[in-house]
Amino acid sequence: MDSIVVRRSGELRGTIPIAGAKNTCLKLMGAALLSEEPLTLTNVPRLSDVRTLTQLLESLGVEVAPLAEGQTLVLSAADLTSTTADYEIVRKLRASFNVLGPLIGRTGEAVVSLPGGCAIGARKVDFHIAGLEAMGATVELRDGYVHARGDLKGAEIEFPFASVGATENVMCAAVLARGTTVIRNAAREPDTKALADCLIAMGADIEGAGTSEIVVRGVDRLHGTTHRVITDRIELGTYMIAPAIAGGSVELLGGRRDLVGALCDKMEEAGIGIEETEAGLRVTHAGGPVRSVDVTTAPFPGFPTDLQAQMMALMVFAEGTSVLEETIFENRFMHAPELIRMGADIDVSGGTARVTGVDGLRGAPVMATDLRASFSLILAGLRAEGETRVARVYHLDRGYERVVQKLSGVGATIERVRDDG
Ligand code: UD1
Repeated sequence: MDSIVVRRSGELRGTIPIAGAKNTCLKLMGAALLSEEPLTLTNVPRLSDVRTLTQLLESLGVEVAPLAEGQTLVLSAADLTSTTADYEIVRKLRASFNVLGPLIGRTGEAVVSLPGGCAIGARKVDFHIAGLEAMGATVELRDGYVHARGDLKGAEIEFPFASVGATENVMCAAVLARGTTVIRNAAREPDTKALADCLIAMGADIEGAGTSEIVVRGVDRLHGTTHRVITDRIELGTYMIAPAIAGGSVELLGGRRDLVGALCDKMEEAGIGIEETEAGLRVTHAGGPVRSVDVTTAPFPGFPTDLQAQMMALMVFAEGTSVLEETIFENRFMHAPELIRMGADIDVSGGTARVTGVDGLRGAPVMATDLRASFSLILAGLRAEGETRVARVYHLDRGYERVVQKLSGVGATIERVRDDG
């Protein structure tokens, strides 16, 4: 297993290219199941999550041809050979539960392993199931699997919470259903809008994606298309925080303010400069402490839960006390004890973390507990005295490509090392 070793770095300067969005890409790959014709995706991020989903799709009979070093994928679902998504793959990647909607939409049946809990919370799938049942599917839970079958028909569905995964699963199921489906309290995330845009390019009839009411009118078939994966707003936000912690000025290529508006507002409130450029977004910070700000995570366009850990790393160095509230997942402060080991002053109580800024941190061996948490430790390590060694880098490989190249390219002292034994 590998670790990332990061040392206190001076000011960061230069550019960082931002990859295609992991979460969008995974759902787009699932959408390939809806057509007999090939779906070509470009700007695909090179991540282990993409490889895991590729394995799952191949097990269903989808041919996946990587081109351009994996940055283009041609997915051909001409002949599906199975409608069962196996536990061994779904347990590794929760997003693979999102083959459920496309599979039942295309074939009238799907057997998909329940993803189980994961480190950041229980993460139930009851909204996904209720949505499919409203559309006429018979759903049974047996042996750890969701068995769903039925000829789907349009329905009016209102989610109790604007779940990203459930909105996307139901939207995919609805595109080939008979009649019109209305999804209320739908997720408004850019990923969901991008999925709808791709489905529309494949011939689907969808209105309102990106708002809280999505109307899907079923069509008989979808055709192939070529679709470019949008910029990863979470990778973008993560790298925006790096110069805010270390100081300097970094341009994030492909960055757009509308993707990370809530983060930009909070960073500006904290005293960090953000400027839109022709090629993306530039973040500038002269160094020294930032002002503390309070953050509450919320569905888009609110502050993303996937950037909460990274924001905490910034607040660790702020002047004063900031209150971070996590409202999306119940157990998403696992980076806090690791940051405390580096000298941070953080008090967690339920879904609230009070972070009081300190003068400096000391590097320490720390443990990555989930994808975003692991990056918060790297960010903190950029300004900690000595060496911070982040173990369990496989979490990072799930969602961030070429971390060492991207950060060392702007002057950070960072390397990937193989652990002994
Ligand atoms: C997606 C993202 C994830 C992000 C999250 C919130 C992907 C692959 N992952 O996850 O990175 O952190 O959105 O922006 O796109 N819930 C239920 N029942 C359900 C579904 C959800 O109770 O049937 C709850 C969850 O437990 C959670 C909350 O709703 O507390 C939000 O979950 P959801 O929006 O569905 O997140 P994911 O789609 O799993």
